[in-house]
Amino acid sequence: MYLWSSWRAQKPVSDTFAVVNCSQLVTLGGAHRPRTGGDLRQLAIVEDGAMLVRDGLIEAAGRRREIESLLAGGCEIIDAGRRLVMPGFVDAHTHPVFAGIRANEFEQRATGATYREIAARGGGIRATVRVTRTASLKDLVKAGRRYADWFLRSGTTTVEAKSGYGLTPEDELKILRAIRKLNDETPLRYVPTFLGAHDVPAEYGSRRGMYVNLIINEMLPSVAREKLAEYCDVFCEQDVFDVDESWQILSAARCHGLGLRVHADQLSLSGGARLAAELNAATADHLEHTDLTGIMALKAGGVQPVLLPGSVYALGSNQYPAARQMIDAGLAVVLATDFNPGSSPTPSMPMILSLACTQMKMTPAEAITAATINAAYSLGRGDEIGSLEKGKRADFVIHEASDYRELAYFFGVEHPWRVDAGGKLAFTRS
Ligand code: NIG
Ligand code: FE
Repeated sequence: MYLWSSWRAQKPVSDTFAVVNCSQLVTLGGAHRPRTGGDLRQLAIVEDGAMLVRDGLIEAAGRRREIESLLAGGCEIIDAGRRLVMPGFVDAHTHPVFAGIRANEFEQRATGATYREIAARGGGIRATVRVTRTASLKDLVKAGRRYADWFLRSGTTTVEAKSGYGLTPEDELKILRAIRKLNDETPLRYVPTFLGAHDVPAEYGSRRGMYVNLIINEMLPSVAREKLAEYCDVFCEQDVFDVDESWQILSAARCHGLGLRVHADQLSLSGGARLAAELNAATADHLEHTDLTGIMALKAGGVQPVLLPGSVYALGSNQYPAARQMIDAGLAVVLATDFNPGSSPTPSMPMILSLACTQMKMTPAEAITAATINAAYSLGRGDEIGSLEKGKRADFVIHEASDYRELAYFFGVEHPWRVDAGGKLAFTRS
């Protein structure tokens, strides 16, 4: 099944090729910045579009006739067959490396237990931590490959990937090393984030300060020394890390050169959004309980909101984040899966697009922008991925559809017909 072992080292079939006969080439070309307001609806679609790829990068994207005039004889042609061609999704919030699953908790929630009650009796994140600590690096990479395959076949070519199920120095490093290995060995690109502050481990009991010190004095320096993460994240929430503890951890992370992301206001109005704003974090994620003051603070702090409707849906809640208010406030909204074994067991960005449109009243175009170019900017990669423009990496998906709105409209369907990452075939249905 995993044809792509050591995929990174493989050569593409051809250094130069063209993709032609696209019903819509959704380029998302435009201003070189995260999109806000009315710009979220501008997808820069080329009808009957085509694209030229050289050495893994996009050389040109435009109308078929223009591109055909650039082709030398013998250039390999990929016929999209009047299908929709889009950038690969950029999933800017995932927890993709863990051992075991929690289908038992899913069943308990179906019979009335809440996520918090399950966590309070030792389930939740701590349940996954127990199993993940016993797993080897090899076990974690093996499990991670299965999920990498799911991401790719849903049309995702880059994921942000958090640690956070180890909560000891060795186990957190083990997870970050697994992420590095998955990045090296699969077609999926991983942007690593250190989330040692995902929970206070059970063995610390009420000695919370000691665990915060361990993160600051041991974990962060090792992560930085080995360059195992680009970002640091904290779960800022009642009974997890309060605003003061989160501030200490994130400030220390910044001193090590890491970018900042925050799990904010997910289960209650915990002050996470305001903290993210105060620290000018790259993102504040979740935001189900964020009020207008928090939204305005994000705007003032230049923070991108990352909305995760999959976790609201899977927890059986109806408290979706206020996407429309955020768009009206001029925020560069991002959508992501939050893929994890507890609150959001889906790798599917099309499912997230569907939820964004039906539950948060985003338009299909706004949702696509949030899931591609805006997500790329939130990861500091806006000049590299997230749109189909000259000079960007040839991460693209040919979908079994002819109109971009179909991706959110037909839900529960695997749309991709072919996925290329860096100009190399990563998944094909044919
Ligand atoms: O983003 N909120 C904290 N972390 C995850 C859930 C992780 C889990 O349940 O294992 C989230 O929803
Ligand atoms: Fe999360």
